[in-house]
Amino acid sequence: MCGIVGYTGPQDAVPILLEGLRDLEYRGYDSAGVAFMSRDGAFSIIKRAGKISRLEEALAGNQRDASSAGIGHTRWATHGKPTDLNAHPHTGANNRVVVVHNGIVENYAELRRELTSNGVSFSSETDTETIAHLVEQAMEDGHDLTSALRAAARRLEGSQAIVAMSAAEPGVLAAARLGNAGGVVIGTGDGENFVASDLAAVLPHTQRVLFLADRQFARVSPGEVRVTDADGDPVDARPKNVPIDPMSALKGQYPHFMLKEIMEQPAALSDTIQSLVTVEPPEIRLDDLGPAAGRLADVERVVLIGMGTSLHAAMLGRYFVERYAGVPAEADNASEFRYRGPVIDERTLVVSVSQSGETVDVLEAMNVASQQGCLQITICNTEGGQTTRVADGTVYTRAGLERGVASTKCFTASLVALYALAMKLGEAKGRLASGEIRAGIETLVRVPEDVAELLRGEDSLGRAARELSQAQNMLFLGRGLAYPVAMEGALKMKEVSYIHAEGYAAGEMKHGPIALIAPGFPSVVIATRNALRQKIIANIEQLQARGGRVLALISEGDAEIRTLADDSFELPNVEDAMEPLMAAVILQCLAYRVAIIRGCDVDQPRNLAKTVTVE
Ligand code: F6R
Repeated sequence: MCGIVGYTGPQDAVPILLEGLRDLEYRGYDSAGVAFMSRDGAFSIIKRAGKISRLEEALAGNQRDASSAGIGHTRWATHGKPTDLNAHPHTGANNRVVVVHNGIVENYAELRRELTSNGVSFSSETDTETIAHLVEQAMEDGHDLTSALRAAARRLEGSQAIVAMSAAEPGVLAAARLGNAGGVVIGTGDGENFVASDLAAVLPHTQRVLFLADRQFARVSPGEVRVTDADGDPVDARPKNVPIDPMSALKGQYPHFMLKEIMEQPAALSDTIQSLVTVEPPEIRLDDLGPAAGRLADVERVVLIGMGTSLHAAMLGRYFVERYAGVPAEADNASEFRYRGPVIDERTLVVSVSQSGETVDVLEAMNVASQQGCLQITICNTEGGQTTRVADGTVYTRAGLERGVASTKCFTASLVALYALAMKLGEAKGRLASGEIRAGIETLVRVPEDVAELLRGEDSLGRAARELSQAQNMLFLGRGLAYPVAMEGALKMKEVSYIHAEGYAAGEMKHGPIALIAPGFPSVVIATRNALRQKIIANIEQLQARGGRVLALISEGDAEIRTLADDSFELPNVEDAMEPLMAAVILQCLAYRVAIIRGCDVDQPRNLAKTVTVE
């Protein structure tokens, strides 16, 4: 969950590290630190609890020579409170090795006991410090930095990404990926190289990148990147070009990434849809399905997995699969699926949805599916993300980098990708006629313009947002395709505005949640044309009969619900399969507006991190 950045080359490392940390702040933001090495091999460490601005202030007051290499870290605390001492980087006992780390050393208590009984004294409460001591001891036993990291890694349990630097090897960074606790991306430049946990920190410098796979190690110097496996044998890892415009990672005219990413959905959807289908001839392409494409006809069951917002996308994907492919489908929370001993086999297609491709529970659930011989496809927004390496095939969303911690554009991009995948499966199963495929493609290509039109009118949410910003609790209700959107609307609201919000299937209301409804209690109800409208009207009446206030999302021109509800917002009349996408966009806008009125930090909500790489 933490962010890591490293640089080695002729430029002054510190400004590059700080820029990288700002690019990665969405990964964790409770403390930050850098270690940098002067050209004679001496290193300095500066670290502070709090946001990166505190580290910048500390660095501004520090006299220093230009540095040739360095590593930086932005932390999401796991072991030890966010304090200056617990911030990374951490050093070995003799200050010869410095380390930044993402993940958890599961056996750290045992290692700490062992090291302490051998006379090592610890200066922090972190699990990371054990790594620094182990690497330093291995170097004292004669290993070079990379092989010392390899030796230390053999002692570590759990998943980690680590970058280390040593005074004994000026200009060298050693990096390791162990398991699924997060990626290691190496950006290759001309006489300089970059290491990071995410593309976001590398792309401003180079688009030529390589990703370390599980249990791979890299020795990174200004002129060379050498990748090895756990035994030290060379691995042929070549950088490839990542076609993401680095400018897309900037906020531009917007005050927040969340708003920018909501507003750029027409372009994100258009880029994604263009990569999925062609209109003439009408074809669902899905070029990265690889060997999975030839096996779709044999699929008898589909299990869609994800976490958080991606789980809500998976829940909608389930409807698409059942409707267009006629195959039994279910959606499951990856953190539950992985431990449940799910009954799946080689006729089961497991579809994982993950914006980052690095969410630990999703990766572990995919491992369970691999062990059972399932066919696997991942819906992913990150080129080279770990889920794309594990799955048999990938459907990439082309939403560009998503920096707001609350996922917005990647949710809607995942929905169109799932829709296209369901149609592809329906085609492979002989269930869809060519006319139906043509109609499905036409539905998709209209989406970006409809979303653009919708966003042009979102400012009329102002009054509803002001009213909701006063609430302490609220419900989001929907039926059918609108049910997962109600869950997503509630998740967006709670994560950015800190208002307690729950999403329910509206039919569930009478089975408990209605007890919450007292005069003035607000509910947001998705009441569009195709979301079991008559039933939802009954739900609205039941809420109002108890004094509840209802904001209804309705289809354009629905005068009946407009009159019935206390407030309403009209969504365009689109194909029913795309109604949830429209509703989701408006619920994103609503959550953003409410959070801003309440003065919340929408891009970095408390306690959250963009990519969850630890359990
Ligand atoms: C919520 C949010 C999270 C992510 C979840 C999965 O706004 O962003 O719930 O959806 O952490 O992340 P990915 O999609 O990267 O697997």
